[in-house]
Amino acid sequence: MPAFQTSPGMRDILPGDSARWRRLNGVFAEVVEAAGYGQIITPLLEDIGVFTRIGDATDVVTKEMYDFVDKGDRHISLRPEMTASVCRSFAQHRPTLPWKVWYSGSNFRYEKPQRGRFRQFDQVGIEVLGVEDANLDVEVIALASEFYRRLGLSRIRLIVNSLGEPEDRARYVEALDAHFAQADLSEQARATLAKNPLRVLDSKRGEDAVAIASAPRIGDFYSEAASEHFATVCSGLTRLGIAFEVEPKLVRGLDYYRRTIFEFQGETLDSAQNALGGGGRYDGLVEALGGPATPGIGFALGVDRTLLACDDEGVFADDTADLDAFVVDVVDGTHALELTAELRAAGLTGDRGYDNRSMKAQMKLANRSGARFALIVGDDEASNGTVVVKPMARDGGDQQNIDRTDLISHLKDKLRNQR
Ligand code: HAM
Repeated sequence: MPAFQTSPGMRDILPGDSARWRRLNGVFAEVVEAAGYGQIITPLLEDIGVFTRIGDATDVVTKEMYDFVDKGDRHISLRPEMTASVCRSFAQHRPTLPWKVWYSGSNFRYEKPQRGRFRQFDQVGIEVLGVEDANLDVEVIALASEFYRRLGLSRIRLIVNSLGEPEDRARYVEALDAHFAQADLSEQARATLAKNPLRVLDSKRGEDAVAIASAPRIGDFYSEAASEHFATVCSGLTRLGIAFEVEPKLVRGLDYYRRTIFEFQGETLDSAQNALGGGGRYDGLVEALGGPATPGIGFALGVDRTLLACDDEGVFADDTADLDAFVVDVVDGTHALELTAELRAAGLTGDRGYDNRSMKAQMKLANRSGARFALIVGDDEASNGTVVVKPMARDGGDQQNIDRTDLISHLKDKLRNQR
């Protein structure tokens, strides 16, 4: 056992996995940049006040923050999510509206680690500030759907709900509180009730099921404006052919939401960790962070869980990071030095063997690298200025002896024919 290992809930993303990681990020960037979103990169650390504005009734704020006092006596925290940072950034820089940004990066929550739940995890997401229009809610949800489609995931369920205007939500919370106060609840749900009655609706415990089923419905508390906004969101999704279900019990884990909220669930994942991503409107958050009253909406998708769903659905399964060529130099290594540089300068991908290993050892490496061709230089080739080009695939044809000066164009032709 080595002296040091990653801390609980933290992982190394190794080559292979990191390639899938980057592919996922690449697809996300393509989808959202095509819709006018620009990338924002915010610091990993913020004043803790930025995150306490997420709401003190959430576990994220009360139990899971990685916070500490720095050498300048500032109470700071590693970010548990990025929405609050984006709103802080907006309030600080006051960009012109609407402000459409996307992000990708790590977040930190001191949670109990398990499959799909880590203490350092990655999200990709978008936020839009300054737009009330319900059509934007549709656009935001549609972009997440398009991302999943583009990745190749299909077993994804979209659920949506509206929490109404802040006053609707407040009246609803009051009614829920009164309802649950009279009901038979588990000890855990009773503790949740004291902090945030909405979250009792999230309880998966059998003892709470009856009380939850008979609880008041948020839909009965909507103002006319809230009803209309939500109806426009639902009809817009239908118009775009996006399948969804309205789930009146959906509340989401963070406190800042108003009106539209939504979640994407992976049908192949265990129910405790099946939330692949989610989001909603947070119209009061910028103001709470000292900025002007500004509506906002966005989502964040968990990269780790999305990759688990990709495993389940066989996405990226045939993804091998093949090289074009692997250079085997059994003379002195200088041919490999020059040839790999030539390959790379010509836009081809290539690797080589080192330490003057035997032909057999280097051919083994060439095999393992997944390269399409081995380029072999022995004493004969070195003295007559040629290279043996050996196709690595079983049905790749015969090896050929090619003049060094023709090598790159010969390889390019071969690779073109193979693809
Ligand atoms: P969230 O629901 O807390 O929302 O997180 C979004 C996604 O991040 C989750 O659905 C999940 O896939 C992933 N995630 C969260 N915690 C963990 C964890 N411990 N391990 C692995 N994955 C995790 C937000 O963060 C909001 N900022 C979303 C948002 C953006 N709302 C509006 N704009």
